[in-house]
Amino acid sequence: MVLDIRAARKVSRIRQRDLAAATGISVRELMRLERGLISPSEKLLRQISNCLGMDVAQITIGQNQLFENPLTGEGYATARPQNNQIIPRRKPLDCTKKPVIDLFCGVGGLSYGFEMHEEFQVVAGVDLLSDRLQTFSRNHGTANAYGQDINTLSTDILYNENPHPFVIVGGPPCQGFSSIRPFRNIERNDPRNNLAEEFCRIVHNLQPEWIVFENVVGLLTHSNGKTFQTIVEAFEEIGYRTAAKVLNAAYYGLPQCRERLIIVGSRAGKPFKWTQPTHWCEHRSMAGRQEFILKPSKGLIQDLQSAITVDEAIHDLPEVEAGGRATTYQCDIESTPYELFIRNGAQQLKMHEATAHSPRMLEIIRQAGANIYALPEGVVKSGFSSCYSRLNGAEPSVTLTVNFVHPASNRCIHPHQHRALTPREGARLQGFLDTFEFIGTRSQIVKQIGNAVPPLLGRTVAQAILESD
Ligand SMILES: C[S@@+](CC[C@H](N)C(=O)[O-])C[C@H]1O[C@@H](n2cnc3c(N)ncnc32)[C@H](O)[C@@H]1O
Repeated sequence: MVLDIRAARKVSRIRQRDLAAATGISVRELMRLERGLISPSEKLLRQISNCLGMDVAQITIGQNQLFENPLTGEGYATARPQNNQIIPRRKPLDCTKKPVIDLFCGVGGLSYGFEMHEEFQVVAGVDLLSDRLQTFSRNHGTANAYGQDINTLSTDILYNENPHPFVIVGGPPCQGFSSIRPFRNIERNDPRNNLAEEFCRIVHNLQPEWIVFENVVGLLTHSNGKTFQTIVEAFEEIGYRTAAKVLNAAYYGLPQCRERLIIVGSRAGKPFKWTQPTHWCEHRSMAGRQEFILKPSKGLIQDLQSAITVDEAIHDLPEVEAGGRATTYQCDIESTPYELFIRNGAQQLKMHEATAHSPRMLEIIRQAGANIYALPEGVVKSGFSSCYSRLNGAEPSVTLTVNFVHPASNRCIHPHQHRALTPREGARLQGFLDTFEFIGTRSQIVKQIGNAVPPLLGRTVAQAILESD
């Protein structure tokens, strides 16, 4: 039975304080674990499962599901304040380019997409997590990288150390909040409640020409649409004319169906012209409000290219077994145009290391199909339909999660090999060039990749800003 920690504790009828004492953590930490605000170490998860008399694999899936819920998930909640840290820019600024500031930057997938247009230059990024910041800084040489909680970030620093931003982009984790009350006194019990408001505060103080607020599509229907409405009103209150759409990255050349809600605002009140899709595939949108989904009208579909498939994105990578790795590209395979673009001339193959699955998991993987129901009865006891499932090489992939190297909780088994995707394959499906450098442990890098906004989406929005300005 799949249960998260809280549900398992209820079933076992153990009180929070008893479980906390038995596992040597504080009640506060346990509360945060149960709410999905932090992720437990494997060791702690094993201890908790033992105390509750539950199967650790099932509780791991349950906790992962808690994180994958659109409004509580995608690893947003794993962020914990680090010591304030600044990594200064390494490259000189080019004052002819339009400066971009990236708030909640992660590795900076969104703003990397802006830099795919030579008109833009990223000048600053802010994120709590040190590993994200290192990766951001390595790939955004002209940016100051601020390792800081945005709640405590003074806009003076951004103002004094960077040119006036033309665009501020950012995707604040919005899971806890039920309302934002711009510029009023508010209780700060749940720090995540106010992150959209913090985005607003910084925008209000720095007055960029454009803003790009990116988020999960669940925001549209959260609290019956009130949360979304409040955010839009907050932007309008500080002087921005807004437009919002749900974009599917597969329609813009990514080999992955990944939808994001994008709210764009113009301080000069300019109408925003959305870039029209270039690719097409059948996809059922997760967005609960149809009117926001940007897709081509029926008459135009035949003029579009088919969406890039998983095979077209990774078929030139060498075969590796579970637990294996490869460090050289193969020369005898003709790359597809997407593979040529994404390889970007890289000479050395990195991060192509497959998870070493247990014998039991390998047995499941060998029999896996499009969803959990493809497995013969009794092979696994329970799980959601996308668990233990194989990707279809002839389609774009489903949305990658932060667990794409572990098939127990999401659909991430290689289309033709008996293993989960490698971090390199995940990076390719997210549209990160093979020359983009990730810094951190393997598990941090997997989260960095799974959490990111695909650079191609950033490129698309940046293009539309250039055309609307
Ligand atoms: C989904 S990720 C951002 C992805 C990023 N926009 C991209 O394009 O790759 C959200 C980020 O917000 C960061 N974050 C969460 N709370 C924060 C806070 N209070 N201050 C600064 N960063 C925060 C997390 O560490 C995480 O890296």
